[in-house]
Amino acid sequence: MHGFYFSIILVILILVGFILRYMITYRVLVKKLKESEENYRELTEKYEVDVSNLENRVKQEAAKNEQKDHLLIQHSRLAAMGELIDSIGHQWRQPLNGLSLIIQDVREALQFGEINDQYIDTFTKEGMIQIKHMSRTIDDFRKFYQPNKEKCTFSLSDSIEAALSIYSSNLKKHDIHVEFEYREQHMVFGFPNEYSQVVLNILTNARDAFVVNGIKNRRLDINIHTDGSFLVVLFTDNAGGIEPDSLSKVFEPYFTTKSNGTGIGLYMTKIIIEKMNGSVKVENTDGGARFILSVPKVASENIPSLITV
Ligand SMILES: Nc1ncnc2c1ncn2[C@@H]1O[C@H](COP(=O)(O)OP(=O)(O)OP(=O)(O)O)[C@@H](O)[C@H]1O
Ligand SMILES: [Mg+2]
Repeated sequence: MHGFYFSIILVILILVGFILRYMITYRVLVKKLKESEENYRELTEKYEVDVSNLENRVKQEAAKNEQKDHLLIQHSRLAAMGELIDSIGHQWRQPLNGLSLIIQDVREALQFGEINDQYIDTFTKEGMIQIKHMSRTIDDFRKFYQPNKEKCTFSLSDSIEAALSIYSSNLKKHDIHVEFEYREQHMVFGFPNEYSQVVLNILTNARDAFVVNGIKNRRLDINIHTDGSFLVVLFTDNAGGIEPDSLSKVFEPYFTTKSNGTGIGLYMTKIIIEKMNGSVKVENTDGGARFILSVPKVASENIPSLITV
C-alpha cells in the first residue's frame, strides 16, 4: 500500500516538476520573444530612419545633379554665343551692303534730278526689305537663346531648320554642304529651342572634324524617319569619323579630343534628348560619324488643330 502511495506521490511530483519546468521555459520563451519583438521594433524604426535618410540624400543628390546639368547647359549656351555673334555679323553683311548701296545712290539721284515720289517709294521699300531681313536674324538668335521653360508640341523639322539657318553663314564659310530633306511636319513634344541647340552642337562638331581632318567634299546629311512611336533623326557626316576607343565616351561630360574643347556639347545633347524621353547614339560609317537622335512623336490626334493645318 505504502508503495502505491509513494508511486502516486512520485508521479505527482514528476508532473509538478514537468509543469514547473514548462512554466519556467514558457516564461523564458515569452521573455525572449518580447526581447526579440523589442529588437525587431528598434530595428524597424532604425531601418525606417535609414531609408528616409537615404531617400532624402537621393533627393538632394538628384536636385544637385539637376542644378549641375542646368549650369552646364547654360555654360555651353554661352560658349556657343561667341560663334553665333560671328554668324550674326556674317548674316548682316549682305543687308548692310544693300542698305549702303541704296543710301549712296541718293546723292547721285539728286544730281541727276531723279528724286521724285516713285524714287522715294522704291528707296523706302528696298530699305525696309534689308532692315526686316536684319531684324529677322536678330529675332532668330533671340529665340534661340531663350530656353523653353515648359514642354510643348513642336515641329522637329522647323527646329532643325532654325539651327541650320542660324549656322548657315558658318556652313558656307567652311564649304559644308548640308542635305536636309523632309516631306512632312514631324511633330514631337519637348523643348524646341533646346532641340535647335542640340542640332547646333552636332553641326559645330562636324565643322571641327572637317577642318581638323582637312576633308575636301564636305557633306552632312540629315534624314528623318519614323520607328514605331519614335521619330529618328540621323546626322551623317563624311568628316573621318570618331576613334573607336572614343566612341563609347563622347557623351560623357568633359570628354574632348580638342585643345580648346570643353567636352560639354554632346553631354548636353544627351541630357536634353533624355529630358524629352528620347535617346542618343553614335556610330562610325564608311567615311564619317553618324549621330542618331530618337524622340517620341506626338500622335496625330494629340496635335492641336492649329498646327496640323
Ligand atoms: N562629327 C564628329 N566627327 C568626329 N569626332 C566627333 C564628332 N562629333 C564629336 N566628336 C568627338 O567627340 C568629342 C566630344 O564632343 P563634344 O561636343 O562633347 O565636345 P567638344 O566638341 O570636344 O567640346 P565643346 O563642344 O564643349 O566645345 C569631340 O572632342 C570629338 O573628339
Ligand atoms: Mg562640341
